[in-house]
Amino acid sequence: MTKYTKDYLRVSQTVFGQGAISPGGLQELQEILSGVDLAGKSVIDIGCGLGGFTVMLVEEFGAASVEGHDVVPLLIEEAKKLVNARDLAHCVVCRLVPADGSIAAPDQSADIIFSKDSIIHIPNRGDFYKEVFRVLKPDGTFVASDWLRAEGIESEKMQTWRKESGQPAPMATLSETQEFLTAAGFERCEFRDRNDWYASHIPTELAAVEKALTEEPMTDDVRNLFEERLVASNLKFDLVKSGEHRPTHVRATKPH
Ligand SMILES: C[S@@+](CC[C@H](N)C(=O)[O-])C[C@H]1O[C@@H](n2cnc3c(N)ncnc32)[C@H](O)[C@@H]1O
Repeated sequence: MTKYTKDYLRVSQTVFGQGAISPGGLQELQEILSGVDLAGKSVIDIGCGLGGFTVMLVEEFGAASVEGHDVVPLLIEEAKKLVNARDLAHCVVCRLVPADGSIAAPDQSADIIFSKDSIIHIPNRGDFYKEVFRVLKPDGTFVASDWLRAEGIESEKMQTWRKESGQPAPMATLSETQEFLTAAGFERCEFRDRNDWYASHIPTELAAVEKALTEEPMTDDVRNLFEERLVASNLKFDLVKSGEHRPTHVRATKPH
């Protein structure tokens, strides 16, 4: 059963902002895409969630078309509502796809494959990166943010946090991600560690939850979800401060 219910999405959007299930908003998206020209390009957004970042790819970065892919029907439903509300249905399509890491798109069909904090959930990342390579056009760019972990064995705290947040498998390390990309055929890969940024940003997530708990009317069920989020976010904060949780920007170009 998916954790993404309407109540869960209320909590997520309180923490991350309207239309988002991951941190940083437009500012972080600008960091992920810095130096990447989306103007006039076709983009696939893997794990588009509620579509908040998906529509920004067109509205803020000038992509010609975006296909948002996700595995949760409620999220696709909400993303479609957002696309329609912004009058973007002519160039943004959000659709439900299989959860196996395959990409529902023809060979060499996308200029850019983008993903924000979703690859962490894909079960076989080695196969996923082969799919990214297959679907990108020559010279096409893979540009993403992913939640990686420090090299070595997971701590008990990390295991607790990720199991409680519904991730069955450990996050990938940077060296594993590099190996997957190289095995898929990418020659040049770039990584940018975002651990320091996230350590400075998490207090805003905690403050948003505390503010909601103090000021917003809510049912007992929703209050429980906010309280659980507070515990989970504090645990995540410890993992980020200790350096084990390493959000990372990843970029790779398909050879010509
Ligand atoms: C942390 S959310 C990020 C959503 C969106 N990118 C954002 O930043 O708001 C992770 C997303 O990955 C999606 N997801 C989970 N498993 C997936 C899979 N196997 N393939 C594609 N997306 C997946 C989830 O449904 C969810 O929307």
